[in-house]
Amino acid sequence: MARWELRPAGSVGPGTRPTYDRVAVPGAETTAPLRIRPFEDGDDAICERVLRALPEWFGIESALVQYVADASAHATWIATGTAKEGPLDVGFITVRRHFPQSAEINCLAVRPEFHRTGVGRALTTVVEDRLARSGVSFLQVKTLGPTRIDEHYARTRRFYEAMGFLPLEEFAELWPGNPALQLVKRLAPVAPPTERRA
Ligand SMILES: CC(C)(COP(=O)(O)OP(=O)(O)OC[C@H]1O[C@@H](n2cnc3c(N)ncnc32)[C@H](O)[C@@H]1OP(=O)(O)O)[C@@H](O)C(=O)NCCC(=O)NCCS
Repeated sequence: MARWELRPAGSVGPGTRPTYDRVAVPGAETTAPLRIRPFEDGDDAICERVLRALPEWFGIESALVQYVADASAHATWIATGTAKEGPLDVGFITVRRHFPQSAEINCLAVRPEFHRTGVGRALTTVVEDRLARSGVSFLQVKTLGPTRIDEHYARTRRFYEAMGFLPLEEFAELWPGNPALQLVKRLAPVAPPTERRA
């Protein structure tokens, strides 16, 4: 399976649309870029398709509908890869800004056939970079806690840990019937660009 990784010269600065190169590894048939772009009108249908492809994670209908609504209401990024048939929207991430210094990954989802190809890392990296540049120091995410045995969410927690998130607290009552694990990551501060002088 090919993987996507940030192109060395790739920029994720303001106004740019970062591109990830698909890195050829043994068994990969083609190489094609992964594009990460901001949500546009009508993209809620893309988010819904991705979520419906993941019933082991998003099997509660009311929660799924809320995540789709959240995608239009909060900052969302869409990842588009390339399949044999052409461009394919493979995942998205939605972020909520709670305070000037803190934000939360509200929803992150990648189509199952593209798991473990670097899409989740690419989406998270783009968001972390944007947030750090706009003054955010702490990024949190909540997911199913380890006291509920679930092999799918165990993978999710391994992903967040690989991305540098640390478990902070598990809440028994926050979500009805499900333990919520809060993970947090300190974002590296990004110095503002130095002023150009004529
Ligand atoms: C969680 C999710 C977004 C991760 O996206 P992804 O594209 O599969 O993950 P990546 O390929 O970018 O993985 C980055 C790193 O995370 C870790 N990781 C990811 N999946 C893992 C797994 N199943 N087991 C162990 N480590 C894993 C690895 O260290 C990986 O790096 P490596 O492949 O170089 O070893 C994706 O699997 C997904 O959509 N899952 C279902 C929905 C979900 O859990 N959403 C979050 C709800 S809070």
